Amino acid sequence: MPSFVSVGPLDELAIGKGRCVALGGRDVALFRLDEGLFAIDNTCPHRGGPLAEGDVTGCVVYCPLHAWSFDLRTGVSPGNPRAAVETFPVRVVEGRVEIAVPPEVETNPDAESQPADV
Ligand code: FES
Repeated sequence: MPSFVSVGPLDELAIGKGRCVALGGRDVALFRLDEGLFAIDNTCPHRGGPLAEGDVTGCVVYCPLHAWSFDLRTGVSPGNPRAAVETFPVRVVEGRVEIAVPPEVETNPDAESQPADV
């Protein structure tokens, strides 16, 4: 079971924006929304776009490169259930955000079979 790692004060996270944090040898996209905190793999399964830099509408982030979308609650694309990114547990302890990322993560085999273009 992965352990939680502190990534900084909650107060420093802007609402509605993402931030990339390096954890467990990988990049994690952390989002603070009115709905809560969410952490997903920062790497878009399409062509590696940085999801932390994507625009957010509701609980959906849009990749800044080609606009693939992912629900931050599930990691699954609303328009294509075969496209997904991993999600990670997030919590706040004494005002600091903590994320649990396993040291090694299996890749999504379905991501390889995604269409090349949107
Ligand atoms: S790299 Fe994310 S949609 Fe293309």
